[in-house]
Amino acid sequence: MSSTTRTIPLMRKPAARTASGTKTACIRTFGCQMNVHDSDRIRRMIQDAGYAEVQRYEDADLVILNTCYVRENAVDRVKGHLGELGRLRREGRVKRVALTGCIGAAEESATLQRTYDIDLVLGTHNTYELAEFVGLPTMRETYTPELPGTEGEHSTFVTIMTGCNYQCSYCIVPTVRGRMICRPMGSVIGEVERLVAGSTGYVTLLGQTVDAWRHEGKRFCDLLEAVSESAPRVWFTTSHPSNMEDRTLRAMGERDTIVKRLHLPVQSGSDRMLKVMHRGYKAERYRRKIEVFREAVPDGTLSTDIIVGHPGETEEDHEQTLELVEDCSFDSAYIFKFSPRRGTEAATLPGAVPDAVVQRRFLEVLRQIEQNAFRRNRRKVGDVEEIYIRHGSAEDGKAIGETWSGHAVHVNTDVAPGNYVRARIESAGPHVLYAGEPSR
Ligand code: 5AD
Ligand code: SF4
Repeated sequence: MSSTTRTIPLMRKPAARTASGTKTACIRTFGCQMNVHDSDRIRRMIQDAGYAEVQRYEDADLVILNTCYVRENAVDRVKGHLGELGRLRREGRVKRVALTGCIGAAEESATLQRTYDIDLVLGTHNTYELAEFVGLPTMRETYTPELPGTEGEHSTFVTIMTGCNYQCSYCIVPTVRGRMICRPMGSVIGEVERLVAGSTGYVTLLGQTVDAWRHEGKRFCDLLEAVSESAPRVWFTTSHPSNMEDRTLRAMGERDTIVKRLHLPVQSGSDRMLKVMHRGYKAERYRRKIEVFREAVPDGTLSTDIIVGHPGETEEDHEQTLELVEDCSFDSAYIFKFSPRRGTEAATLPGAVPDAVVQRRFLEVLRQIEQNAFRRNRRKVGDVEEIYIRHGSAEDGKAIGETWSGHAVHVNTDVAPGNYVRARIESAGPHVLYAGEPSR
């Protein structure tokens, strides 16, 4: 699909300034990695406009809330922040507030803008309009994923597609992010090569359904293979079971530079619920995919997303989810309580599940996931692993790293993020592994 370019008119708006003359801005990011990535773009715009980034609202002339709309509590959290910002603005400490991201693209944003007197509300396709708002004289940008990721970082997200062509009953993403647009292969590879020539050692290919990527006869696996030849370490998220090809799973097992972690959201183990959700596959097909993955990538890790309490979910449906969780033996999972999003089909469906039932089902799924994960993690004890350091050591001297199998590891080292250490796994919890002293 082609990209659309919009030109922002030449116009300079007065931007806020502090007494010292330096304009300051604070960016808060809520939600998924897509939003983290968008915040990087926003960050560069405000830097170009001469703003210094600050961490506290009270130090900021301009506050940008880059928001998530996927679940109800995300909106509640943002409302809390908007209330606090209203107070700071009345005290003259914060001057302007902008709301961007998925809430900005949703219907509810007009009400929020009125209630909290927000200066600028932008959706996900027009974040470039922020340029004008922060006083950049001109800005020309595409709204497609042609935009580069963060450079100069050891670990970088590279967007390969935006939007989503599915219509899952509960999901607001197709409404707020639009239909799928795939970034051309040459553009992705070009960016990856540029990043790797800089300081990037870890590239994550990003999109709502990355495995649905296709462009000029090429499919996701072709792109992944090409990237895995250019980058020293590669991962991708998120995938959709209907698009996941066996050859991609085999490539994960065969190629040394791909992190052997598959995130494949299943949402439910009940065929009836999968149909209501419009997921487009049955539980059996998902199980078969996982069998292929476990065989192709025996030392790999598997994670998923599960929604409990979708309208109409019966006790039998829930039991089937528990069975699937047992069969697939996930290494980790994100479990969500259903949250109605205005504008989605599920928000209007009958058969609401009482809160107490949702809570019990949530805990049952969680317990089962944790038991399996703990059992699997314990098998790693004794292995010597090469660990990529993601976050440097905290006060306790422990850094957080990742093995090639995709396990999170706490390791005692002061090496900087982006480097590797070798260490033996000494113990395991349900969520992370603990390594001993690194040998280098
Ligand atoms: N309610 C609960 N969970 C949801 N998700 C998306 N929309 C909703 C909703 N309305 C979950 C899905 C998805 C993940 C990113 O968030 O599990 O895979
Ligand atoms: Fe939402 Fe994912 Fe379904 Fe797309 S595939 S509608 S992003 S849950």
